[in-house]
Amino acid sequence: MKIRVFDNAHDAGVYVAALAEQVVERQAKPVLGLATGSTPIPFYQALIRLHQCGLDLSNVTTINLDEYIGLTPSHPQSYARFMWENLFSHVNIPETQIHLPNGVASDLEAECIRYDEIIRKNPIHLQVLGIGVNGHIGFNEPDDTLLSRTHIVNLCPETVASNARFFQHIDDVPKRAITMGVQAILQADQIVLMAFGREKAEIIAKAVFGEVRTDVPASILNLHKNVTVVLDKDSASELFDESGVLRRK
Ligand code: GLP
Repeated sequence: MKIRVFDNAHDAGVYVAALAEQVVERQAKPVLGLATGSTPIPFYQALIRLHQCGLDLSNVTTINLDEYIGLTPSHPQSYARFMWENLFSHVNIPETQIHLPNGVASDLEAECIRYDEIIRKNPIHLQVLGIGVNGHIGFNEPDDTLLSRTHIVNLCPETVASNARFFQHIDDVPKRAITMGVQAILQADQIVLMAFGREKAEIIAKAVFGEVRTDVPASILNLHKNVTVVLDKDSASELFDESGVLRRK
């Protein structure tokens, strides 16, 4: 794992956008795996600026990690709406090349199969990830096992509590979601795990330097050959040794 620590989230976002630009320029049909939450927003802002400076995204296909079950794509807190507001409405990725799980599909099992087929047909070149305070990636929550395929998940109470900040009331937070499984994440050519803020410092230390354990889902990224962990100083604060030197992975 490569670790890159930036002064602030803005600078980190610019770095991740530059990594995405390399993929977009090198691949004839670039596929980006995208995440939601507050963490990737500086990356999306920097990618939008690159697009405004001339980066063409018309060949890009995007595959998002997850979606809440029960929220329509137009719901203000759906991940579809988040992606539209924070990225898609500002760039020239054709709508037909944008993929998110459908959280209101009448047959959710069939929806998981449909989504795995999209991932199979469009192998991901660069997968961007945030991390939950409990170590989840996408909505792969800590558990005895991690599921490889796209699946329906019951969200942990701490995830519901953490995501309640985006809703009017905690009871409005959906308790279930559809998430890409860990196999699709690990099959990406390159993975970028982003985290900012002191509240992510402990879980980042566990994920980066701890054992691979299913109750710390992000630790599974240690099994991948090309992972860059992009942090600010606060989220990296547990990765420095007593003399203030960044421990190496
Ligand atoms: C949600 C998403 C995750 C994301 C996490 C962290 O639970 N499903 O993909 O990593 O939130 O959110 P934030 O970046 O706001 O801390």
